[in-house]
Amino acid sequence: MRFKEKVAVVLGGNSGIGLASAKAFAEEGARVVITGRNPATLQQAAAAIDGDVLALQSDISDLDAHTALIDEIRTKHDRIDVLFVNAGVGAFIPFEEVTPENYDEIFAINMRGPYFAIQKALPLMGEGGAIVLCSSIGHCAGLPGNSVYAASKAGMRSLARNLGAELVGRGIRVNCVSPGPTDTPIITRSKVDDIEAMKAQMRSVVPMKRMGEPEEIARAVLFLASSDASFITGIDLLVDGGLISF
Ligand SMILES: NC(=O)c1ccc[n+]([C@@H]2O[C@H](COP(=O)([O-])OP(=O)(O)OC[C@H]3O[C@@H](n4cnc5c(N)ncnc54)[C@H](OP(=O)(O)O)[C@@H]3O)[C@@H](O)[C@H]2O)c1
Repeated sequence: MRFKEKVAVVLGGNSGIGLASAKAFAEEGARVVITGRNPATLQQAAAAIDGDVLALQSDISDLDAHTALIDEIRTKHDRIDVLFVNAGVGAFIPFEEVTPENYDEIFAINMRGPYFAIQKALPLMGEGGAIVLCSSIGHCAGLPGNSVYAASKAGMRSLARNLGAELVGRGIRVNCVSPGPTDTPIITRSKVDDIEAMKAQMRSVVPMKRMGEPEEIARAVLFLASSDASFITGIDLLVDGGLISF
């Protein structure tokens, strides 16, 4: 019960890694807030989380929506103890086919939106607070078709360092988790023709010869968000079955 009486906000908490993390925070006593765009999966996720949960529809790329989101959180909770910035989209697009629209959409969701959402949430955070950003092993690897996504995730890794340095004096820790290939709906959303072939390829390159499960990433997120990581800030925790680490 590391999060008893704590308020944990998961931006992008209605699917995959975010949902697994929200469930785990609730299991350890947190009062949980989840966000996402899809009202149906938000409702399903809220029903699947055992405990005190508030599900709010909010598009992270819409900066105007951030104020309303934080106001809604404030009506129920007086503070945020943990902010897990998980929302993200992936896309494999060959470099020469990337359009400015692709580029802007991915950055709006994976980097610009998260940046300003944190800015809006910060007044509710204080001493002992923890921010965890979701990056990706993509930020430290080279993969054909991954240039925009990887750059957006490199931004998140950089933000953990810089925000960590800026907020350390206020007692707020900022860390980053970088999942390797993890079996979540992002894979089916990635518009790749042969999903099963892609998954098989991912399994083959991971030294552990399997994909990660969202719950395995969630455990790393909870560690970074908890007092177990009280002397840790600015780091990137790779959770990748050895893919980058070896
Ligand atoms: N799975 C992997 O292999 C892997 C590897 C490395 C990093 N990651 C990162 O892990 C994070 C979670 O991904 P996942 O694998 O769990 O995929 P997922 O199941 O597709 O979950 C993505 C989450 O982000 C939310 N989201 C997307 N766009 C949003 C927007 N504009 N506004 C608000 N919420 C938005 C989704 O909500 P809606 O469905 O409502 O839009 C959903 O909750 C992402 O940042 C991803 O880049 C995943």
